Formats: sequence, structure tokens, C-alpha cells
Amino acid sequence: MKEVINADQSYQQVEEQARHYFQLLNEQVTKKSYIPKLVDDFQKWKVNHIHHPSFFSFFSSKQKKPSSKETMHYIKWLDYTNKLEDYLKRSISYIYLRDLGKTLEDQDTQSKIDQVVGDLKGSLIDSTKNEKKELFGFDWIIQKGKKEQILLTVDWMLSKLNTVSANIPEELDAANAQRKLIKIIAGVLMHTIDAMEEDISPSERREKLDKAIRLGYCYGLTYPFIDDLLDSDLLSKIEKEQFSQLIRTSLLTGKVPPLGSEWSEATLQFLAYIHTELKEAFEYIQTQQSSSKFFEQAYVFFHSQEIDRQKELSNKTYTNEELFVPIILKSSSSRLVARSVIQETEDDDGFEQRTFLYGIYNQLADDFADMFDDLKVGAVTPYTYYIQHQQHRNDLINPFEMYWAVISNLIHNVYHSHSETREVILNRAINGLKRFKEKHGKKKYEEVMKQFASGFPEFNAILQKMVEKGDDVDFFDKLLRDHMVDHFKIQRAEKEAFKEKIQIVKEMVNQELLITPDLDAEFQQDLVLEAANYSLTGEGKRLRPIMAWFVGVEMYGLEEVSLLPLFKSLEYMHTASLIFDDLPSQDNASYRRGRPTVHEMYNVAIGELTGLFLTQKAIEQQTLLEKFDSKTVLELVRYSAQVTANICKGQVMDLESKGRRFSKDELETMCFYKTALGFEAALVMPAILAKANEKEMNALKKFSRHAGIAFQIKDDLLDSEGNFENLGKSARMDLENETSTFVTILGIEGAKNEMWEHYCLAIEALESIPQNASFLKLFLNNIVHRDR
Ligand code: IPE
Ligand code: IPE
Ligand code: MG
Ligand code: MG
Ligand code: MG
Repeated sequence: MKEVINADQSYQQVEEQARHYFQLLNEQVTKKSYIPKLVDDFQKWKVNHIHHPSFFSFFSSKQKKPSSKETMHYIKWLDYTNKLEDYLKRSISYIYLRDLGKTLEDQDTQSKIDQVVGDLKGSLIDSTKNEKKELFGFDWIIQKGKKEQILLTVDWMLSKLNTVSANIPEELDAANAQRKLIKIIAGVLMHTIDAMEEDISPSERREKLDKAIRLGYCYGLTYPFIDDLLDSDLLSKIEKEQFSQLIRTSLLTGKVPPLGSEWSEATLQFLAYIHTELKEAFEYIQTQQSSSKFFEQAYVFFHSQEIDRQKELSNKTYTNEELFVPIILKSSSSRLVARSVIQETEDDDGFEQRTFLYGIYNQLADDFADMFDDLKVGAVTPYTYYIQHQQHRNDLINPFEMYWAVISNLIHNVYHSHSETREVILNRAINGLKRFKEKHGKKKYEEVMKQFASGFPEFNAILQKMVEKGDDVDFFDKLLRDHMVDHFKIQRAEKEAFKEKIQIVKEMVNQELLITPDLDAEFQQDLVLEAANYSLTGEGKRLRPIMAWFVGVEMYGLEEVSLLPLFKSLEYMHTASLIFDDLPSQDNASYRRGRPTVHEMYNVAIGELTGLFLTQKAIEQQTLLEKFDSKTVLELVRYSAQVTANICKGQVMDLESKGRRFSKDELETMCFYKTALGFEAALVMPAILAKANEKEMNALKKFSRHAGIAFQIKDDLLDSEGNFENLGKSARMDLENETSTFVTILGIEGAKNEMWEHYCLAIEALESIPQNASFLKLFLNNIVHRDR
């Protein structure tokens, strides 16, 4: 095996450093020399965090602190009580320490932090103003991407994240995987932005941001797809070894070996995707590296994780060094990699050193928080091992003491007793204990404290007082973490339910759709009816009746059976429009819904007549809406006739566009007429039946305008990027026909920009719909992410 990096050597080198660091900490633990310093630190700290009840707090207590679970409410409360700025400052400062390896002693860092805090405060207050607005939702990301002119990259990222969430096995905890990926991308982005010169040219900035997002995603994948996968029970023991070997070989040789076939059937089902995605990611990272630094650090990260993973809780003989050294290594290398991946490797200001020393602090905080989960699965961490073996092994270092020794060392030796740093780190530590207490309850918390803190009673007494009484120690990244996980979980459940419902409605519609032969007919072969049913039985998505179902049944509570004629009517209208659209006189298309078009299967005259036949059948269905009063039905028929007439105008505009260069406005008008109106009908017709008010109608119309245009742009994109197999219709037709489309006029990038533009406008329209219309958002997401 040809090794391109000298793995052993680079590992041994940092291992030596880690051993050194461990010895230093060990000494402080043994001598308990960290305690007096921390006691003093807490004396200073508490001034700002222990508030004595006052006359004023009696009044303000009416405005009770909301749980941080209610994200928006909580932020409003922080703002109201004037705490928001401090809150953000401590949070952002912490991120600069932990993720960016900065020192708060640096003036430049301070002003950067202040700027981020200012921006963030503004946008948070903004988003609390609208109840329906999602915190950092898709539309927010799109707006940011637009502003930075990297929408194409953002589009790439969103579709990647979407694919990950669709393909990730349930056991790998999709919500957390998504969160981690986003977190890593954000981390790499932060490094990139941090390292940028102020006078960087716009194009260079774009290029760097693009790279950061792609590299962040590629590196981030290793968390769910290597780490979590190896931690899970998805692979058998042998499979885990095989998979580890595959990763190791990749890192050492710079080549990802093929997956091979020695996997169980079930494993292969998800592993094939993971392997392909990791391989692609690995190869992309490789093209971006000019030195071996990234791969060396990645190897340290991987190898130290492996050493840790292989430990068994029942093993009685691990030394302290064996327990702590790998965690020093894995926790620091994971952060170092986030920076070396973007090639910002020159270490001008001690970044590497600080990051190296900082890692274990986080790791011990995390291991403390997760100790019960880790115990359950038998994972070895300093905490679980201590719990398990401490009785017979009085040589074991108490990890909680180690934790405080690390904190003291950081505050005093690494950050030179800098007061703001002390403030931030102690806030975080107290917050961790408070969170633990909240999560597991007072009793459990006290038991844990008894086990871990009874060896240093005086310090513990102070500590517990701080946990009890200390306030203002919350962190935004924790809030965001909880919010994101909840959000992704809900979103996933919603998506799943939506998918199921769509399937059910689709089947129901399919059942009803076919037109039954007219028994009184005097001819033997009813060709037009046959052709109509032929076109209706093709693989259509049935989007329009499905949307009408959601609006009618879900949003307005109308009875499903009473709406059946409407569903049929909508699909007849739409299918008719497709038959016309495919005719030789229009797009001259030979395939539709996976098979020959009607005029190919029969002939042009039959095609024309079938189109006409279906539009009439659509009207006939509308007259069968017998559960509704006739005036309402008349209104519906009138509206429907107007829409059909207008769609014709859109099609004419489309045909007239041949060979011409439409302006953006013209493209928009054309798509509104030829496509969005059909969507509008699907939303508005059930709303007419439900006697919706004008405001709701207008919101639905606005939504369908933009969703419909986005749909057509995606159709144009698929025409240029898709294939017959997925689409069921020939690709590249627009080019052949010289039709003006968003893609032929604006190019792929321009078209994607416009698609997302309309996406955001559609989301905005949703905000003015009073009912719960979350399905419309899901629809919209389907529209932009569909591949057929
Ligand atoms: C295709 O509509 C015509 C356009 C408006 C772009 P669909 O993509 O909804 O077609 P089917 O009904 O699934 O075949
Ligand atoms: C068709 O647009 C719009 C209507 C059918 C009204 P396209 O011509 O782009 O649709 P496809 O690509 O043939 O489905
Ligand atoms: Mg057309
Ligand atoms: Mg067409
Ligand atoms: Mg098309």
C-alpha cells in the first residue's frame, strides 16, 4: 500500500504533545493547585451573576422568564429585559474562543465580535416581529446567498442537505446529522470569513465562500457518515472493521477504495449512497489541498477516535494517560481540521496552540452531559470509566476535577487571567451544570455531584451556590442547537406525513379519474374517449388535484367526497393543456408521462379532439359539484373558464417567443399565464367553494403566482439538466424548439437565481394566510427539489 502521508510519524508527534499536556494537567489535579485560583475567579464572577432580589425585581418578575424552548418568545424576553446584547456577546465570544481559536485579549477580535453581535441582534429582533417567520429558514439562507452572490452554491448545498436527509438511515438520527452538517459548514465559513482581507475583491470573496460551503459540507459528512455510523448498531462488528479499514486506507493512500460486496444486503442499501457521497467529498477536498496538513490532521482525528471507540468499559486496566490522551487528540484535531481544510494554515497568532489546549475542555463538558447515554451503550469516556471502576481503582483521575483543572489552566495560563475570558468560560461551565440539573432533575444531579465533587468540599460548596443562584449564563448556540433539532424533527415528521398523504390522495384521484364509456353511444369504438383515458393513465404527478385536496379538505375542512368532481375537473383541464402543448403545431413532443403522446399514438386530429373533449369533461365535472349552492358553483365555473382562456394566451406567448430573446418581465408574464394560473386554479377553486374571504384569496393567488413560476423554472431546468428516464418526457426540447425559457435566456445560474427569488416571494405570501398552510411550504420545497 502506497502511503502518501506519513501517518505514524505525524500521529506520534501530536501524541507526544498531548501526553505533555496531560502531565501538566495531572500535576494540577494532584496538587489541587487549580482550586484557590478558581475560588478567586468565582468571587469575581458572581458579582455579575448573583442578583439579590430587589424592589424592582418584584415588578419585573411578572414578566417571567420564558423557557428557552420557546425560541422566539425567549429572544423577545431577552430584548425586553435588556439582556439580549450581553447574551449574544457571551455567545459569540465563546464561539470565537472555541471554534475560531481566538483570544479575547485581541482588540481586533473584540471589534469583530461586537460587529457580529450588532448584526445578529438586528436580525433576531426582526424575525421576532413576524410570528410565522422561521428562524434562519430556507428563505433567510437564500437571501444571504443572494446578497453574497453565491446562490448557485447555496442551491447546491440545499439540495445536498435535502438528499442527505432523504437517504440517511433512521438510526443515524437525521435531525442531529443535519444540524451537525450545518454547524460544520458554518464553522468552515467562519474561518474563511475570518481569514479574509478586508479589501478582498468581490469575485475572490465569492470564490472563497463557495469553496468554504463545499469544503464544509464535504468535511461535515464525516460526522454522520463515519463517526455516527461507526458508533451505531447499523453495521456488524466485522462490517465496522471493514468500513474503518476503508476510511483508513483512503486517508493514507489518498484513494477511496471501491465499496466491494462483502456487506449484508441491508447494509448495502444505505452504504452504497454513503460511500458514493463520501468518495465524492473526499475527492473534492483533495483537489483543494496543496499540502498534506489536512490529511495528517484528519488522520489524527480518525485514529484517536478509533482508539477511543475500541475501548471496552469492562476492561479494568486502562491508565489515566490512555483515557485522556486520545480525547485531547480527537477534540482538538476535529477543530483544527475545520481550518486546515480551507488551507488557512499559517499560524500567525497561536491559533493551533490554543485550539489544541481548548479541545479537551469541550470534550469533558460534552462527556459530562452525555454520561448516562454513554453508560447505557457502554461507551468509554473518562466519566463512564470512572463511574464503573473508581471503587477498585483509586489511582483514577476524577474527570470532574480534571475538567476544572482544564478550566483554570485555560483562564490563567492560556488566556493570561483575562477577565472577559474568565467571564465567558465560567458562564459556560455553570450553564453546563444547570442544564444537566434541569435535564436529569435535582436528585440525580445531587447524586452525580456527590460522586464527583465530594473530594473538594469547599470548592464544591461555592460551585453549587453558583449553580443555584447564578443567572445570565444562557448561550445562543445552545438555543440554536435545541431549536434546530426540534425543527428538523418536526420537519421530518411533517415531510413524512405529507408524503404519505400525497400518496393516498394520488391513489384516490387515480381511482376516480378514468372516464366511463357512454353506454348509449351508437358507435363501436369511442376513439376520443379511449385517447383521453390513455393520456390520463400515464404517470402524471396529479399535483393540481392534490393541492386542491389540501386546500379544500385540510385547510377549509370541506368533505372529500363532495370535492371529487373538482379533483377530476382540475386533472382533465391540465391533461388537456398537455395534449395541446405536445402537438406538432406547438412543442412537437413525442413523449409524455413516460409514453408516446396522444398524437403519436393516434394522430394529430385525435390529439386535438381529445384536448377539446377533456376541457369539456372538466366543465361537466364542475356542474356535478352538487353539495355546493349553485351560485357558488357558477362563480367557480366562471373563474375556471377565465383561467382556461388565459392559459391559452400564455401558450400563445410561449409560441411567439420562438427565436426571440424575452426579457425577464416577459418570461415572468408568460410563465404566470401558461403555468402559474393552472396552479392558482387548484388553490382558488376549493377556496371559492369554501367561500374564503378576499384576503385569503389574494394570499393564495400571490402564493400560486410565485410557486407556479418557480415550478415552471424548475421544469425549464429539468428540461436542460434532466433525462427521459426521470421526466417521462424528452429533455432538451426547449433548445430544439428555440423556446424562450428562463434557462435558454438567463442560463442555468440565472434561472436558479430566479427560481429561488420566486421561492422567497411565495414564502412571503404564505405569511399572510391566516390558516395553517404548512403544506403549501412543503409543496414549495417539493417543487424546487423535485427531479421529475
Ligand atoms: C407539466 O406539468 C407542464 C408544466 C406546467 C411545466 P406537470 O409536471 O405537473 O406534469 P404531470 O401532470 O406530472 O405529467
Ligand atoms: C407547458 O410548459 C405549460 C402548459 C402545459 C400549460 P412546457 O411546454 O414547458 O411543459 P412540458 O415541459 O412540455 O411539460
Ligand atoms: Mg410548451
Ligand atoms: Mg412542452
Ligand atoms: Mg418544459
